[in-house]
Amino acid sequence: MQKVLVTGGCGYIGSHTVVDLINNGFEVISIDNLSNSDEKPLEGIQKITGKQVLNYQVDLCDLEKTRAVFEKNPGIVGIIHFAALKSVEESVFQPLRYFHNNNESLINVLACAQEFGVPNVIFSSSCSVYGNASELPVTETTPFRRLECPYARTKQMGEKIIEDFTKVTPTVRAISLRYFNPAGAHESALIGESPRTKASNLVPVITETAIGKRASMTVFGSDYDTRDGSCVRDYIHVMDLAAAHTACLRYLMAGKNTGSSEIFNVGIGDGVTVLEAIHAFEKVTGQRLNYVIGPRRAGDVVAIYANRDKAERLLGWKPERGIEEIMRSAWAWQSAVGGG
Ligand code: NAD
Ligand code: WQD
Repeated sequence: MQKVLVTGGCGYIGSHTVVDLINNGFEVISIDNLSNSDEKPLEGIQKITGKQVLNYQVDLCDLEKTRAVFEKNPGIVGIIHFAALKSVEESVFQPLRYFHNNNESLINVLACAQEFGVPNVIFSSSCSVYGNASELPVTETTPFRRLECPYARTKQMGEKIIEDFTKVTPTVRAISLRYFNPAGAHESALIGESPRTKASNLVPVITETAIGKRASMTVFGSDYDTRDGSCVRDYIHVMDLAAAHTACLRYLMAGKNTGSSEIFNVGIGDGVTVLEAIHAFEKVTGQRLNYVIGPRRAGDVVAIYANRDKAERLLGWKPERGIEEIMRSAWAWQSAVGGG
């Protein structure tokens, strides 16, 4: 079996991607220092797939310990690098921690890919690189706008580090995937998103409110220039996002890449407003959500959604689930973990 290294395999998107990789015949190992997770998702993965995944609890900023994992696991065919700190707000107050963790871990992963002959690398980038985009939907060539957020800058820098590195390293090719708004959970409700700190993303806020973990939630702004006044985002089901990684890996392994590094948007390709998301939740769950309309949240972009044509054309990937399936699966997961 072909072995894939997933970094951040105990995290939200990593754990779902591990399931998709195993279901597609790959053997998976993980490196995760558990700074924002625990090993519980590995139990869920085992229940879903029947396969045990080994996690090395190693900080990827520690090059020697990272090298040791590669030494123990010769013949890795690809690395999917999820591991990163991801809080936009936290990054504003702890910029050096974000630059150190996100960029140094990536540099070490690339150095190991080169040293140990791993030919394929996939990197988690983010639609946050675009800032307040000048045109909608955004394509991979839409110019970046000024960023206020160190987190998003680590992703812009990460893409550039990969571009510069692969240009002069013919043994390694790479893809950066710009995720839009990942949400939802595996249909089994055995794995899902488990925010360690208070949830701030819309979908977990909705499910935590519905289950009674919070008394009510706030819609941040109703006076934007959008169809109902609330912000527009592109919510992509985490299992569709997982499948995009497997598609990338197959594409790279088949040598279909058109350059040493490539970039793809991974979104549904359509915008959903905050109020539409809430109504979708109410429709599929039969729950009445307790929400109030509040002021705008600082730093929010008005609207962003993807043009995903490039991924469909080159990777043959397209999403299969929409906002209702996101809400149904997120609610099943929240119901399984409870409101405690
Ligand atoms: P997550 O926090 O659930 O998973 C990341 C995992 O990486 C965690 O388990 C954490 O313990 C681990 N990790 C962090 N730093 C590490 C280090 N130095 N060494 C080893 N392990 C380390 O986050 P997620 O939502 O699964 O996101 C995965 C990736 O996708 C991240 O790179 C994130 O920036 C990116 N992304 C996420 C979103 C989103 O909304 N969730 C959107 C766009 C991009
Ligand atoms: C979505 C919409 C809020 C909570 C963030 C990061 C981005 C990427 C994805 C990592 C917005 C509204 C939210 C609430 C609300 N992550 N909202 N009430 O801000 O689009 O993107 O996650 O790369 O980098 O910035 O996602 O889920 O926080 O917000 O009204 O209680 O929901 O205003 O319009 P966001 P989000």
